[in-house]
Amino acid sequence: MPLVGTKEMFARANKEGYAIGAFNVNDMEIVQGIVDAAKEEKAPLILQVSAGARKYARQGYLLHLVQAAIEDSGLPIALHLDHGEDFEVCKACVDGGFTSVMIDASRFDFEGNIAETKKVVDYAHSKGIPVEAELGKLAGVEDAVNVSAADASYTNPAQAAEFVKRTGCDSLAVAIGTSHGAYKFKGEAKLDFVRLGEIMKVLPAGYPLVLHGASSVPQELVEKCNKFGGKMPNAKGVPEDFLRKAAGMGVAKINIDSDLRLAMTATIREVFVTSPGEFDPRKYLGPARDAIKAVVKNKLKNVLGCAGKA
Ligand code: G3H
Ligand code: 13P
Ligand code: ZN
Repeated sequence: MPLVGTKEMFARANKEGYAIGAFNVNDMEIVQGIVDAAKEEKAPLILQVSAGARKYARQGYLLHLVQAAIEDSGLPIALHLDHGEDFEVCKACVDGGFTSVMIDASRFDFEGNIAETKKVVDYAHSKGIPVEAELGKLAGVEDAVNVSAADASYTNPAQAAEFVKRTGCDSLAVAIGTSHGAYKFKGEAKLDFVRLGEIMKVLPAGYPLVLHGASSVPQELVEKCNKFGGKMPNAKGVPEDFLRKAAGMGVAKINIDSDLRLAMTATIREVFVTSPGEFDPRKYLGPARDAIKAVVKNKLKNVLGCAGKA
């Protein structure tokens, strides 16, 4: 089976009331952990690559890892560029074989965001590739951008309708209170579901919305990490119930990266502490891969509702 696009994936998800998990990949163990989980759960998948991941692992290696994942699993898998910062990186990914790209021009003002997004949409559509864009700003740290909570701003529903119409983007990442990383809420976790509903109302029925910053930061993993020398006090993520609600409301794509990082790191810490003499990378990367698999299985089966939908 070749790599698939996201259009049909999103249409079916919307019709049947579930969300597609989009998981960030940086190396072989992460790809395998995610795909092993999806294989057992028979779930469609989006594997996404950030600018940082492209730099770290190199585009060709990631492409071939994802191709191997498709051959191994037979699952519908889309390969997506996460937070493409400009036209050039989006073009490189379209030309390189990605089946979906994100242009994140949310750092610009409204008109600047529209202009940059439209440029990518025109090119990607000429090659048959769908484009995700972002309107509003999430707080948190991405590879190239660090947005403080004060600079974050929620998506304006009226602007969302105009933005989608003028750019022709195929899906839209919205800011409703999530943020990137492991420290999402200082006090009580809160998302603006009213705003999400308003955004849905002004867009065409079933238009695919995307929730970034959707890691739940499971407390048992934070505790495991800290038990073995980590220092992550006050780490806090989006409660899984919120994600279930978002998926049920019709959010098409839910982005998860930090939970995988946490599972991997906590597990490697444990091996180093409990077996200090260990120096075979397979002895810590193998358990890390299993830990990622467990996290992803839970998301697919118990949170996103996409198990059995491949
Ligand atoms: O949204 C950000 C993702 O977690 C990717 O993070 O830019 O450090 O690869 P990264
Ligand atoms: P988390 O940091 O919550 O995992 O978000 C990941 C993300 O949005 C990738 O684009
Ligand atoms: Zn993101």
